Amino acid sequence: MTPSDVKATLSFSDGSPSMELPIYKGTIGPDVIDIRKLYGQVGKFTYDPGFLSTASCNSTITYIDGDKGELLYRGYPIEQLATQCDFLETCYLLLNGELPTGDQKSEFSHLVTHHTMVNEQMQFFLRGFRRDAHPMAILTGLVGALSAFYHDSTDIHNPEHRAISAIRLIAKMPTLVSMAYKYTVGQPYIYPKNDLSYAGNFMRMMFATPCEEYAPNEVLVRAMDRIFILHADHEQNASTSTVRLCGSSGTNPFAAIAAGVACLWGPAHGGANEAALNMLEDMQKAGGVEKIGEFVKQVKDKNSGIKLMGFGHRVYKNYDPRAKLMRETCHEVLDALGLHDDPIFKLAMALEKIALEDEYFVARKLYPNVDFYSGIVQRAIGIPVTLFTAIFALARTVGWIAQLNEMIGDPEYKIGRPRQLFTGSTQRQVVSIDKRG
Ligand code: SDX
Repeated sequence: MTPSDVKATLSFSDGSPSMELPIYKGTIGPDVIDIRKLYGQVGKFTYDPGFLSTASCNSTITYIDGDKGELLYRGYPIEQLATQCDFLETCYLLLNGELPTGDQKSEFSHLVTHHTMVNEQMQFFLRGFRRDAHPMAILTGLVGALSAFYHDSTDIHNPEHRAISAIRLIAKMPTLVSMAYKYTVGQPYIYPKNDLSYAGNFMRMMFATPCEEYAPNEVLVRAMDRIFILHADHEQNASTSTVRLCGSSGTNPFAAIAAGVACLWGPAHGGANEAALNMLEDMQKAGGVEKIGEFVKQVKDKNSGIKLMGFGHRVYKNYDPRAKLMRETCHEVLDALGLHDDPIFKLAMALEKIALEDEYFVARKLYPNVDFYSGIVQRAIGIPVTLFTAIFALARTVGWIAQLNEMIGDPEYKIGRPRQLFTGSTQRQVVSIDKRG
């Protein structure tokens, strides 16, 4: 980060001593005001619940321009990565800062491929769950449980441990997600096959059975791979910030990633794709396109508590570039499957058109986000709705790891420990229970 020539001056209307605060510039994006010395000098905290105006770190990984609707992974536009690269190239880029050469990609792919199996004991964790357990409940447990099997890679301050746990987590997430799915449908687990691509292996572990050969549909495999790329990282979102804060205590990488899985589950975050598809299916049952007006009216009524799931974003105040790519992928997949008349997709496009023209949404800069179309694509591929967020977690694992490693690799990093504005009771004395009124 580069110190700016401009300083910020903090002054108080009661004549308390003012303070000069340094400003730092990034390579692109907003400058930051460095408040690290604020409390020490003026005895006051800043106040920013939800962190709307707070930069928690400096990072070189992902940049979002919310006003322009731009997303860069290590400087590369998401549109180029999603159409010219595959997910493992993107993983290499996020972890190492550069796209791999042919040899680097072959070596990385070989490493990931040969770590896709999980310890056979993992199956016994699954048996503890009910068959109708939500896959995210299962995945949260399984990812945390991985730390019990890899004592040779739990020291987050050891670069070699960080490297091998990154490979293990990226490699095993598809296996764990497909096991969580197979468990809920009562089918046997399918082992990874080393001659398949990352996405092809996942599709086979999801949909193959021991009864017949399974040849993945290449259009669907490509769509799955693109879904992984689009979800791989996204700056300091809620789950990434959770992973950073969790990892800042020095806990092992598996535990920190399990915390990210738990946070992603929420409907305001990664759970929105499941919520968005359920919303569309409910709308379809209630009358479909003809009833959109009534639904939008409910959304605009604050008392309804209804939100347009898959719309709006803390950072994007323009169209989420991932949503555009996801909509294209929708077209490709639905055409490949002969489902171009899919009523849910038509309903989604009609709803998007109305929302983009409605003053309520325009005034609030509410555009479709990555979750609006991702559910339709996954549903067309045959992924059950309850597995959507688990697939989001599978893809985001590489981003979480890259961000965690960046933090741990920063010599200035400290354990995260925010403060508060206390508005509770001042000190008071305990009265014995027999004297309490
Ligand atoms: C992801 O952070 C990331 O990068 C996340 C993510 C990633 O890749 O990691 O991009 C993935 O989580 C995408 C977002 C998925 N969530 C949803 O689609 C759920 C629906 N969206 C909302 O919950 C909401 O838009 C958020 C949570 C995404 C953002 O909320 P903010 O930034 O806190 O904004 P807000 O809730 O203060 O909303 C501002 C206004 C409010 O109205 P007013 O009080 O100003 O009148 O917009 C309204 C909100 O009521 N609003 C919506 C709305 N989203 C915001 N109204 C209806 N439908 C919505 N979806």
